[in-house]
Amino acid sequence: MRFLHRERPADPGAGDVEALIDVEGVSTSFGDNVVLDGIDMTVGRGEIFVIIGPSGCGKTTLLRHMSGMLPPSSGVVRIGGESLYDLPEEELDSIRRRMGFSFQHGALLNSMSVIENVALPLAEAAPHLSRDLIDEVAQMKLEMVGLLDAKDRAPSDLSGGMKKRAAIARAIALDPELVFFDEPSAGLDPITAAAVDNLILKLARIFGITMVVVTHDIASAFTIGDRMALLFDGRVFAHGRPEDVQQHPDARVQDFIHRALPRDEARGVDITDYLAKGALR
Ligand SMILES: Nc1ncnc2c1ncn2[C@@H]1O[C@H](COP(=O)(O)OP(=O)(O)OP(=O)(O)O)[C@@H](O)[C@H]1O
Ligand SMILES: [Mg+2]
Repeated sequence: MRFLHRERPADPGAGDVEALIDVEGVSTSFGDNVVLDGIDMTVGRGEIFVIIGPSGCGKTTLLRHMSGMLPPSSGVVRIGGESLYDLPEEELDSIRRRMGFSFQHGALLNSMSVIENVALPLAEAAPHLSRDLIDEVAQMKLEMVGLLDAKDRAPSDLSGGMKKRAAIARAIALDPELVFFDEPSAGLDPITAAAVDNLILKLARIFGITMVVVTHDIASAFTIGDRMALLFDGRVFAHGRPEDVQQHPDARVQDFIHRALPRDEARGVDITDYLAKGALR
C-alpha cells in the first residue's frame, strides 16, 4: 500500500491523467421532464470529482447513470473505456463490484450492529471467506473512519456524523477503486460536515480511491474537489478546477457560489482560504 502524499491530479481534459469515467452526451427525461440535457464530463483516475448544483437539477440521476444503476435516455457512460450500458449484465456486475456507494437515502440497517453493516457487502461478495476474516476486514474499515469503538452499537444509536462515517466504511468494505457519494454531509452541522470532508480527502489521498461526490454544499465542494462540474437545468454550466469555477463569468454561477457564504462563515473559513489550501490537494 502506498502511503505517499498524492499530488493533485492534472486536468484529465489536458490529457495528463488517465480518464476513469467518461460521460458523453448524456440526456435523460422522465416523461415530459427533461432532467439531463447533453451532459459531457470526464473524471480522472485518482481524483475527487465533485458535482454541485441546486436541488432537483439532476445530480442524483447523473450519479446513478455514472455508477451503472440506471441507463440514461441517450448518451454514453464509459468506465475504464467500457461503455457501461452496452456490457452484458455479468460484466456490468463485475465492474460494479469494484465500486463503492454511499447514497443519499442509503441508510444503514438498524437490525444489525455497525460492524455487521460494514461486513454485509464482504459476506455477499465473498461468501467463502471465514467469519473471522470478514470481521477483521470490517474492523479495519471502521478503524479507517475512526469508528472502531462504536462497532457493536446499533446504527440508530449513532450521531448523524457517525452514521455517515459508518456508511463510508461500508462503501469502502470491498476496497473499491471508485466510490460514489451522494450528499455525504447533508444534514450535518458545519463542524461534523468538515470532519466528513476530511475523511473523504484522507481516503482519496492515502488510498488513491477515485471519488465522485455529489453535493449542493459549495463549501464542501471547494474543500475536497480536485475538479468539479456545476449543473443547472440539466446542463453543465461550469467544469474544471475549483478556481476556474470560482472565476466563471456567468452570473448564475457566481450567485450559486456566493449564496453558500453563510455556511462558510459558520465554519469560520472563507472560500479563498479553501482555495489557498493547496497543501490539502
Ligand atoms: N425515477 C424517477 N422518476 C421520475 N422522476 C424522477 C426520477 N428520478 C428523478 N426524477 C426527477 O428528476 C429531477 C432531478 O432529480 P434528482 O434527484 O436527480 O435531483 P438532485 O439534483 O439530486 O436533487 P437533490 O439536491 O434534491 O437531491 C427531479 O425533478 C426528480 O423529480
Ligand atoms: Mg439528489
